[in-house]
Amino acid sequence: MKIVVIGGTGLIGRPLVEQLRQSGHDVVAASPSTGVDTITGEGLAAALAGAEVVVDIPNSPSFDDGPVLHFFQTSTRTIVEAAAAAGVRHHVVLSIVGADRMPDIGYMRAKVAQKQIAAASPVPVSIVRATQFFEFIGALAEGGADGDVVRLSSVLMQPIAAADVSAALAEVAVGEPLGRVVELAGPEPLRLADLGARVLAAKGDPRRVVVADELGYFGGTVDDRSLTPGNDPRVTRQRYGATRFEEWLSRAFAA
Ligand SMILES: NC(=O)c1ccc[n+]([C@@H]2O[C@H](COP(=O)([O-])OP(=O)(O)OC[C@H]3O[C@@H](n4cnc5c(N)ncnc54)[C@H](OP(=O)(O)O)[C@@H]3O)[C@@H](O)[C@H]2O)c1
Repeated sequence: MKIVVIGGTGLIGRPLVEQLRQSGHDVVAASPSTGVDTITGEGLAAALAGAEVVVDIPNSPSFDDGPVLHFFQTSTRTIVEAAAAAGVRHHVVLSIVGADRMPDIGYMRAKVAQKQIAAASPVPVSIVRATQFFEFIGALAEGGADGDVVRLSSVLMQPIAAADVSAALAEVAVGEPLGRVVELAGPEPLRLADLGARVLAAKGDPRRVVVADELGYFGGTVDDRSLTPGNDPRVTRQRYGATRFEEWLSRAFAA
């Protein structure tokens, strides 16, 4: 079947496109660098012509409050309108575990707005929420860089390997629309400060991590239930999210 992956050149998109192609699908990796822009609408109708499924996984170039909200609102509206016009039968959206529990974080408000637009559209939807990707921990650590230390909150997370998210999305994309939320999380609850210290150590970075709980997450207030799935029965525990952080770390920084 024809599947369009918006954001198909990104961290999650690249392996997803590859996996779907290997399964024999006709896959379009749609993004500005391939001539498809969901803010201007450029190239979208042509990309969606004849498609059955659209996977909606672009990311905003800016994480600032106003621009990120504008990005996800505009991009999602443009996608649902074009998908409805093209007769697409399944819209798969990637959101974030706990986004609705962190209303003082602009990025999370933008992801909630994205989900609401998708849920209200006439195109049947599957909403997949993932926890933070292992690959994102390094960027979170850099956000706390302060001279020869890195300041990070010790908030609890349950991060997941990006490859595990791509694999789950590949299965959702070829299935029937779920019409509900499913959540993906990695196998272990771990603290952000510890995760950051382990990434720095694996990179041979001499900076020390200093616990600074007052920083919260992206400047917003969080507690140990904000970013973790807890005992939420929606989490697909067994089939995806099996890669452990240590296993990923040793592969990612093997060189
Ligand atoms: N980071 C996390 O821990 C986390 C956790 C849960 C969910 N998520 C969600 O996962 C999704 C994918 O994230 P990612 O890390 O794979 O992103 P990424 O690596 O930053 O890739 C971003 C993708 O978006 C595309 N893009 C940017 N502007 C666009 C536009 N105007 N129109 C169409 N495509 C555009 C980029 O295209 P070009 O390559 O052409 O620029 C690229 O393919 C995001 O929606 C994010 O909110 C992230």
